[in-house]
Amino acid sequence: MEKIYITRHIPEIGIEMLKDAGHEVTVSEKDGVLSKDELISELQKEEYDAVLSLLTDQIDAEVYDAAPKAKIFANYAVGFNNIDVEEAKKRNITITNTPGVLTETVAEYTFSLILSLLHRIPEADKFTRAGKYEGWAPELLLGRNIAGKTIGILGAGRIGQQVVRHAHHFGAKVIYNDIKQNEALEQEVGAEFKKDINDVFKEADIISVHVPLLPATKHLVSKERLELMKEDAYLINTSRGPVVDEKALVEVLRAGSIKGAALDVFEEEPKLAPGLVEFPNVIITPHIASATESTRGKMAELAATNIIDMLKGEKPKHVVS
Ligand code: GLV
Ligand code: GLV
Repeated sequence: MEKIYITRHIPEIGIEMLKDAGHEVTVSEKDGVLSKDELISELQKEEYDAVLSLLTDQIDAEVYDAAPKAKIFANYAVGFNNIDVEEAKKRNITITNTPGVLTETVAEYTFSLILSLLHRIPEADKFTRAGKYEGWAPELLLGRNIAGKTIGILGAGRIGQQVVRHAHHFGAKVIYNDIKQNEALEQEVGAEFKKDINDVFKEADIISVHVPLLPATKHLVSKERLELMKEDAYLINTSRGPVVDEKALVEVLRAGSIKGAALDVFEEEPKLAPGLVEFPNVIITPHIASATESTRGKMAELAATNIIDMLKGEKPKHVVS
């Protein structure tokens, strides 16, 4: 019987699958993120063969040292910037993620943010609840249409491409930047590739970020680039917080040099950059873009399957490179 440690409670289906496969499963009892020291001391209590980690766990050499028998760290997320993959390679530890199952959900959520921001839905809700609605008015809370606008996508991976499709169906023009051009996508929805990322910042009315967090993408949305944006343009981020220079974003919002923003991720989660909460033209949500009941369940199944395959001696399907 092999031993598996799960760093926080996840949807039951994943836990049941691991048990049904004959494994002994220990789930952290803390209702919260384990600190690094807590995680290390938990892992040292038993000789674990596998660990199921979350994007809030920093997994590095010290953590691997605390679980010397662990063959796999299965991350319950598509992003894996929280894991030292190089160090894992040196130690022959397999790292897996949960791609695919959350694509639709994150793309839908991203589009919900775009719709909510342009149509000012959170502002309107707050206004109405506050008892300020005194009757219909021709110029009350005017928003903006998505149809006819140019949406700029940074990173045309699975999620980015799905957002491109939604944008196309809403009648927007789509431009995108990625490390590689995607001719199939261009044929499908008439998206236009911008080799120079700065052209996306200059031309788009709505910019949506879908790159993974890597050393090369930290502050990809820099102060200089934010300043290239049109005055009536919006920024949306559902990828990883550090891709956007959040302090610089607060500065351009304060200067009124962009129209608004919607963020589901932050540079130092769960902290927010000072000043961010003051803007009515900013929507902030607590990293829930993949949070539907079915998707979080599928992520649990996928992470469990990755572990089950590994412990059977097979290569899991979602090994990160
Ligand atoms: C969520 O942010 C994920 O990477 O799955
Ligand atoms: C203006 O942007 C509008 O869509 O009405």
